[in-house]
Amino acid sequence: MKPKVFVSRLIDRDALDMIAEVAEIEVWGDELPPSYEVLLEKVKDVDGLLSLLSDRVDTTLMDAAPKLKVISNLAVGYDNIDITEATKRGIQVGNTPGVLTETTADIAFALLMAVARRVVEADRHVRKGQWKTWGPMILLGQDIHHATLGIIGLGRIGIEIAKRARGFNMNVLYHDVVRNEEAERQLGVKYISELNELLSTADFISVHVPLLPGTHHLIGVSEFALMKPTAVFINTSRGPMVDQKALYEALRSGKIFAAGIDVTEVEPISTDDPLLTLENMVITPHIASASVHTRRNMAMMAAENLLAGLRGEVLPNCVNPEVTQ
Ligand code: DGY
Repeated sequence: MKPKVFVSRLIDRDALDMIAEVAEIEVWGDELPPSYEVLLEKVKDVDGLLSLLSDRVDTTLMDAAPKLKVISNLAVGYDNIDITEATKRGIQVGNTPGVLTETTADIAFALLMAVARRVVEADRHVRKGQWKTWGPMILLGQDIHHATLGIIGLGRIGIEIAKRARGFNMNVLYHDVVRNEEAERQLGVKYISELNELLSTADFISVHVPLLPGTHHLIGVSEFALMKPTAVFINTSRGPMVDQKALYEALRSGKIFAAGIDVTEVEPISTDDPLLTLENMVITPHIASASVHTRRNMAMMAAENLLAGLRGEVLPNCVNPEVTQ
């Protein structure tokens, strides 16, 4: 008998075909994710689950899926999954690192540039019929070239940001729990051991750390207070890394110059959230990895993880390898 799998959203056709060759597959075809209640029902007798970051995979869900062997998350991040619980139950969890690194770095840099040079605001200015003349004081932004970029978290994505920044003649600082001397040599980036020092020195600050209990609200009122009034803040990691009320206040009061964010504390952000009233903020709907090529690669990788788990093999990209050791 074929193993059963549930795929919680429509993904690349070839990835689905690859899964369908060996498993009985059910795919959730709606644009919106299945509700938690529906997900509980769908996983009842599955061997494998291909989940998205919008699916909460917790103890209750694992209780509802007694045959579950593998959870393959279509994302590099996996804060939507209770890994400790999965490990306890011998369920392997897979993710999709690497393939989305540069695509994510591209959008972080796109936000940085858009915000610094007020591109979105300028577009609105033109469309609203406010372009009356060339003005020496109109829509002035911040220079990117030769400015100082502070990267929080020099992992794969942080490194790619650093490379882009060097191309713009930026001075690059980074803060991380682990110092990376090789990256310092190769990229000419400078390690700052104290986060507060980086926050008060950098012109641009970009966050690239995973969401963990210790990184929740890593940036809040006191961190924004340290930033320069000309600072540009970028978040493409996870929304809860930032205290969103503090971000709003920092932007509204001019404590910082502007922000570009791809993620919010609750996703999607409510349309009446005060952040959306601000001109000095550009927001995108968690699309950092959303290129045709990258999403296909992520889907293929997620399918390979899922199939390996169904076969009882170690996943090519496993976040809890201790399960099979
Ligand atoms: C991830 O993979 O974790 C991103 O947030 C979505 O691509």
